[in-house]
Amino acid sequence: MRDQTLKFHFLLFLLITISLFHSANSNYLNLRRGASISVEGNTLITSPDNSFNCGFYALPGSNAYWFAIWFTNSKDKTVVWTANRDRPVSSRGSRVSIRGDGTMVLTDVDGSVKWQTNTTSTDVVAAELLNTGNLVLKNLQGEILWQSFDVPTDTLLPSQRLTKNKRLTSLLRKGSFESGYFNLYFGADNVLTLISDSPETSSIYWPDPYYDIYTNGRTNYNSSRIAFLDDMGMFHSSDKFQASASDKGFGTKRRLTIDHDGNLRIYSLNNSTGLWMIAWQALSQPCQVHGVCGRNAICVYAPIPKCICTPGFEVINPSDWSAGCKPAFNETLSNSQVKFVEVSQTDYFGYDIDFQPDFSMEACRELCLGDSRCRAFTYRTWGEGHCYVKSSLFSGFMSPDFPGSTYVKIPRSLQVSKPSIFQGSSNTCEHREAEILVGSVSKYDSTRRMVRWVYIYSFCGALGAIELIFITLGWWFLFRKHGVPASVEAGYRMISSHFTRFNYGELKKATNNFREELGRGGSGIVYKGVLSDDRMVAVKRLGDVFQGQDHFWAEMRTIGKINHINLVRMWGYCSERRHRLLVYEYVSNMSLDKHIFNSNFLGWKQRFAVALGTAKGLAYLHHECLEWVIHCDVKPENILLDSGLQPKIADFGLAKLFQRDGPGSEISKIRGTQGYMAPEWALNLPITAKVDVYGYGVVVLEMIKGIKLSNWAVGDTDDHEIPLKTFSRTVKEKVQCGCGNSSWVDSIVDPRLEGKFSRKQAETLIKVGLSCVEENKSKRPTMASVVQILMECEE
Ligand SMILES: *[C@@H]1O[C@H](CO)[C@@H](O)[C@H](O)[C@H]1NC(C)=O
Ligand SMILES: *[C@@H]1O[C@H](CO)[C@@H](O)[C@H](O)[C@H]1NC(C)=O
Ligand SMILES: *[C@@H]1O[C@H](CO)[C@@H](O)[C@H](O)[C@H]1NC(C)=O
Ligand SMILES: *[C@@H]1O[C@H](CO)[C@@H](O)[C@H](O)[C@H]1NC(C)=O
Ligand SMILES: *[C@@H]1O[C@H](CO)[C@@H](O)[C@H](O)[C@H]1NC(C)=O
Repeated sequence: MRDQTLKFHFLLFLLITISLFHSANSNYLNLRRGASISVEGNTLITSPDNSFNCGFYALPGSNAYWFAIWFTNSKDKTVVWTANRDRPVSSRGSRVSIRGDGTMVLTDVDGSVKWQTNTTSTDVVAAELLNTGNLVLKNLQGEILWQSFDVPTDTLLPSQRLTKNKRLTSLLRKGSFESGYFNLYFGADNVLTLISDSPETSSIYWPDPYYDIYTNGRTNYNSSRIAFLDDMGMFHSSDKFQASASDKGFGTKRRLTIDHDGNLRIYSLNNSTGLWMIAWQALSQPCQVHGVCGRNAICVYAPIPKCICTPGFEVINPSDWSAGCKPAFNETLSNSQVKFVEVSQTDYFGYDIDFQPDFSMEACRELCLGDSRCRAFTYRTWGEGHCYVKSSLFSGFMSPDFPGSTYVKIPRSLQVSKPSIFQGSSNTCEHREAEILVGSVSKYDSTRRMVRWVYIYSFCGALGAIELIFITLGWWFLFRKHGVPASVEAGYRMISSHFTRFNYGELKKATNNFREELGRGGSGIVYKGVLSDDRMVAVKRLGDVFQGQDHFWAEMRTIGKINHINLVRMWGYCSERRHRLLVYEYVSNMSLDKHIFNSNFLGWKQRFAVALGTAKGLAYLHHECLEWVIHCDVKPENILLDSGLQPKIADFGLAKLFQRDGPGSEISKIRGTQGYMAPEWALNLPITAKVDVYGYGVVVLEMIKGIKLSNWAVGDTDDHEIPLKTFSRTVKEKVQCGCGNSSWVDSIVDPRLEGKFSRKQAETLIKVGLSCVEENKSKRPTMASVVQILMECEE
């Protein structure tokens, strides 16, 4: 008898052990009503194809857990949904169960409810995780009573819909587990919007707040408010916004996530490595995200984005820039005690208590002094001066392309040093700098890599949705939560109306029946004109453009949005019957070739400025506008000089217009100018932005030498070697045997300068020029790195 009891007990023990062991190792496919899972049990709900897991997710570096869904096959087990994001539970005793009343409940160790679904249907049979990553509660009939897709956190999975009243919210910062301030949602105007919504400020930063809805390529009439990512990697929104993953196609696992840096990205999973690649992002420039650096701070590219404090302010928490900076002085100031410190090339978004167009700098200063709320004023010089009086300093950014400065009110007694990021010596503010956002250098690099990869597949062209440009025209307008001041709104309307469709009669009149010819090129003849509002323009009459009206209009809109100080601005176009005309700003000082190869040549200082400005313009085309424009015809004739001898690149964006039978087919015959054309044109290789780098290299070498090096055609036989090849070979030899002695520079630089040039700059420029004309395109630098190198030796 006793034996039997013992046996029985032993069997029971064995059974229990086996079942425990079993349950600890096997994955539940689903969770039935009345059952529960716990942290200790280590049980998971898995999707049938095992691509997603759902269960307790340990927060690294803590004893806390989320009830979450994550990708099984990504290296870092990327979380796509969290039930209790801001209320993690303890590692012991926490459990998720489906109660008899049909609610799924997450309880902490003390039994307190940390999260629950509010399904109170006794029909609920089980919770299942679908192959899409959706956790659902189903009834006997298989109907879905609740789904995690309806309560997203920061990620949208393919086939999941973002709808009215839902939002994606970022994490607070890299490595944190709380909700942050950046949100994606449909605004009351039906437009899909990114907003920075911190306790201190609330500011929309996407779509570009400097433009109106239509210029941003959106609409507000469709009130269905639905956005989703499809299985091919296309993102669609009911406001007409569309984006496409650069690796568009079926079979790849993707997600759309709002990251802790405020950017919205589509990621694609690489099966073999388990790593995510960025396949699209909403903002090409990290500093476009409002509030990324917090109050009184400035976002700068150095060249990795960083936060620094406004002079006179100190960082509050160096490991969390969203807290911003605080004044290093007593805030109550009387006018007799203050001075203004200039923060050049810097603007702060919004908080304008006053805006005055056509104002003098002195009057602007007086305006600020006269208002005790004024903390600073921004003065923009683009044509006339524009004055913005600011009550707070939020969303500051510094960019070499911003045509103006902000003057910050600080006590007269306070000594501050200016931030000098762009002078290449950032020692003074090094201790205040912290790396923000795209998180780490490597991630930033991966974006860049992606960009390069993309070039190959999208010749000279557009990819994804229309992304707007960072620096706009001479009118900053502000967008506040509570509306836009009327004066500013007027300026804003002018921006959007500045890109115009002209009719043929207007342009005929403006150019006095096409009388004064400014120049002619492969794509057409350019005439001088004056518009009815007295603006001087250059009107280009295109030759045969075999494109329909719609396509032409789409191209024009894209080009019309490109705006950079070193690019010739397009004011509008005309497309009527067979007439195709483009209307550009008039640039007064002719093209670069007239200033190099003639007796009327530029001095060194101007040549260097032209080299740097041209590089900036190209870098902007290649890296900063998401439309990734390749110029395809960089040569001195296409670099115009304005009245201050600053370069402006003309004719960008036209390569696509002349494309006939699809990408790459006949372009080489139409675009490109012999002598400036990279070898890959002749070899029929994929055309990338590196063709512009090559053209730029030839231009730079010509500017240094002062003679044309591009005289003969590419591809001639060796006995008739082109001057460029000979030149670069001899220079390379000199560089090599120079052995640290830079006297070789003298023998190369234009003798007409009679030695009046900076050796350091000349040496740098020669080396840059040579590397740009490397035969192997992968050895050529990017335009962004050329800008960086040249800025380091700017004087
Ligand atoms: C049910 O869920 C919705 C959305 O999550 C929430 O707003 C609502 O308060 C919940 N109701 C109950 C009774 O918990
Ligand atoms: C509104 O958007 C939805 C979703 O994109 C679409 O199905 C619908 O046709 C649109 N309605 C109109 C009137 O365009
Ligand atoms: C990735 O792996 C999954 C399953 O192993 C497969 O179905 C899919 O086709 C793969 N995708 C690619 C792009 O190789
Ligand atoms: C995945 O990563 C490997 C290694 O980095 C790379 O060779 C491969 O091309 C990647 N696959 C895709 C589809 O990008
Ligand atoms: C700041 O200045 C005001 C007026 O001069 C003074 O009353 C106040 O005590 C000062 N505060 C500090 C913290 O120095």
